[in-house]
Amino acid sequence: MATISNAAGRIMVALDYPTAQDAERLIEQLEGIPCWMKVGMQLFYAAGPGFVERLKARGYKVFLDVKMHDIPNTVKGGSESVTRLGVDMFNVHAAGGAQMMQAALEGVDKGQASGSAKPIVIAVTQLTSTSRHVMNDEIGIPGPVDEAVIRYARLAQRAGLHGVVASPLEVTAIKAACGSPFLTVTPGIRPAGADIGDQSRVMTPPEAFRQGTDYVVIGRPITAAPDPREAIQAIIDSIV
Ligand code: C5P
Repeated sequence: MATISNAAGRIMVALDYPTAQDAERLIEQLEGIPCWMKVGMQLFYAAGPGFVERLKARGYKVFLDVKMHDIPNTVKGGSESVTRLGVDMFNVHAAGGAQMMQAALEGVDKGQASGSAKPIVIAVTQLTSTSRHVMNDEIGIPGPVDEAVIRYARLAQRAGLHGVVASPLEVTAIKAACGSPFLTVTPGIRPAGADIGDQSRVMTPPEAFRQGTDYVVIGRPITAAPDPREAIQAIIDSIV
């Protein structure tokens, strides 16, 4: 049975805000709840490394969701920088290939301060927004999307990465292919009765954990709730 604290520690709140001030209002409302904070491109490009440093100074675990995809040397440099910043997790696109993913891990080794923990590095497989039509006919990858997801997950694992971002519907197949210690971080989560918004295939938090996921990423059901603290507390209560 999970305790309140370790249940909260498996929830990543997606801080999808345009400015640091907007994000800080939410953070104040969640004060004292030991959840992770996920900082994506919108907020990171606007608020910068200083915002991440402030989250770390407040004791939060930070997932920097910047989905790096570039030549290996550049990804190595990016990984070194975000490791120096002290993030606990960041991600790269598996589509960049094994050499690029290995370069990300080399960047971590270079950026790691002695004695501090290394960030977890995970891969984006096939974005959940990509339909089979787009994948087959525009990007040129044949076959069903779920086969591509597993291929990418295996490639990420062979490259030495620690897990993947995935739909909760893909968790069982990924764990079967890569083993249960290989982490899955799953967005597309909606508490029972919540507005689905632009997500299509969703699961509730307890359903996602029953599939074996390690972390759930939750944005609007918390950030757009009339009372975000009550919303995250109800999610925690649903999984302990
Ligand atoms: O508000 P919502 O709960 O839908 O937010 C989900 C978060 O997870 C967003 O930050 C979104 O960018 C991210 N994400 C996603 N689907 C993916 C990868 C990331 O929804 N495949």
